[in-house]
Amino acid sequence: MKKTSKMPAVNGKISVAPSILSADLFSLGTSVQTVENAGADWLHVDIMDGHFVPNLSFGPSIVKSLNGKTRLALDVHLMVEHPLLFIEPFAKAGADLLTVHAEAKDDVQQSLTAIKKLGVKTGLSIKPDTPPERIVPFLNELDLILVMSVYPGFGGQAFLPQSETQLKQVRQLITRSGRAIWLEVDGGINVQTAARAAKAGADALVAGSAIFNAADPATALNQIRQAASDI
Ligand code: DX5
Ligand code: ZN
Repeated sequence: MKKTSKMPAVNGKISVAPSILSADLFSLGTSVQTVENAGADWLHVDIMDGHFVPNLSFGPSIVKSLNGKTRLALDVHLMVEHPLLFIEPFAKAGADLLTVHAEAKDDVQQSLTAIKKLGVKTGLSIKPDTPPERIVPFLNELDLILVMSVYPGFGGQAFLPQSETQLKQVRQLITRSGRAIWLEVDGGINVQTAARAAKAGADALVAGSAIFNAADPATALNQIRQAASDI
């Protein structure tokens, strides 16, 4: 069942990952094709359990539907209390990267080990009030660190300025580790905040409402990438 992860290695460029949380599910296939044709790098899939965050979203079936239908890597963000229950179902459904939260109830090390065993890339996320030092014990085995720039749970919130400090601190930790680890930012990313996040060290940008609620999602996506690349 193991698939080869489509997640590219860190390449010195900005990656943009549209979040389908803000896409119209009636026409999900068309929306995915639109962002794929516009040059999106990955597809961000937000999983919410109603406990870790006060909202519900998708299960493994949506990842299964996307798997094989898009060339984009499936970047699955697990906002759940018990990732150990869901790692295998999402890996089998076709996730290329699975990100768990440092604040989840299950043991982080156990979750990362389970992800790796399934041949999937590993991500670890921190919420806005979590000290970046919480990531340090896991730096040696991470492919990606996700800094939440809003309190997770909903699309369409405003970028929290404190995330710039968090991003800078995490960037320093990555540099010190000497490893190639993506630094992804998620929440409130638009043309203005994309540049600020990139300046603070982010090289992967999740954007939901700024892309899918735009009159022209392809233009919005490219403006975000451009703003972040021009810094
Ligand atoms: C929020 C999710 C985000 C969300 C971002 O909890 O993790 O991925 O889709 O949405 P925007 O870009 O609208 O803030
Ligand atoms: Zn997310």
